[in-house]
Amino acid sequence: MRGSFFSRLLPQLSLLLLLLLLLLSLRRVWAQEHVGTAPSRSPVAPECPEACSCSLGGKVNCSALELPAVPVGLNWRISSLLLDHNRVSTLPPGAFAGAGGLLYLDLRENRLRSVHARAFWGLGVLQWLDLSANQLETLSPGTFAPLRALRFLSLAGNRLTLLEPSILGALPLLRVLSLQDNSLSALEAGLLNSLPALDVLRLRGNPWACSCALRPLCTWLRKHPRPASETENLLCVSPRRQTLSLLTAFPDAAFRHCTQPLAARDLAVVYSLGPVSFLASLAICLALGSVLTACSARRRRRRTTVRPLLRRQVDPSGPASLEDAGRPAAAATQA
Ligand SMILES: *[C@@H]1O[C@H](CO)[C@@H](O)[C@H](O)[C@H]1NC(C)=O
Repeated sequence: MRGSFFSRLLPQLSLLLLLLLLLLSLRRVWAQEHVGTAPSRSPVAPECPEACSCSLGGKVNCSALELPAVPVGLNWRISSLLLDHNRVSTLPPGAFAGAGGLLYLDLRENRLRSVHARAFWGLGVLQWLDLSANQLETLSPGTFAPLRALRFLSLAGNRLTLLEPSILGALPLLRVLSLQDNSLSALEAGLLNSLPALDVLRLRGNPWACSCALRPLCTWLRKHPRPASETENLLCVSPRRQTLSLLTAFPDAAFRHCTQPLAARDLAVVYSLGPVSFLASLAICLALGSVLTACSARRRRRRTTVRPLLRRQVDPSGPASLEDAGRPAAAATQA
């Protein structure tokens, strides 16, 4: 009787034990998933942005995925971000916020037209930035200023016509700057002066103008001689004669006329043009005003003398008219 009772209870007890074991193991798995993910997986692949592939050492590969924007979910463990050959057209403020550990950023061959002045904020350790083969026409002042560790910057193959010194700011470590295949005609002196470590400057494929504005660039090129193979493509287009000249062929003497006599004359013209034109316009106004007032005064005077005469001549009635009509005739005979 007792034996049969135990034998009946045994399957139920074992079932209970099995359930308990299952619960315990589930709890352990759940705990592992919540506590264990971050430290155990992080060195292999940081939480990977959707559609990209991530590999050891924080490399995130989002190449050629037709992405329309910078992917979300970037974090500080990412060291290299490949976004080349996508359809990114704009970089909003803080586009790479959270990816403060980024060293290498490739944005080649996208459709970039606008880069916000604060797009690169937070990328204080970035060393390599490639923005080549995009559609950039202008850049805002201060765009690259946060990138204090930058060593390589490519803006090649865009549509830049102007590169003001304030756009780059002071980049103390920049060694390579690629500007080839744009629409630049000159580089301001301030731009090259704020890049003390610059060693390689790629310039070909731009319509450099053989003018005084080219002087800072020619001076820099003379101080940083490159192999002949690189410099022979650097030509400038003379605005008047439409001829091509070698950029490196200009000695400093060629720019002598740019500074002293021309500048002094220009300054004199600029400074005298304002007051002279003001005085001239004042004189013209006065003359015109006096001529007009004189004319209107004369007309008024003539009208006061002509009108009574006309009225008298036209008036057909009465003896007064006859009397009056005789008067001018008398005046005429008198004259
Ligand atoms: C990135 O991924 C693409 C294809 O997804 C591949 O062709 C390319 O070689 C990868 N680049 C690197 C540096 O791993």
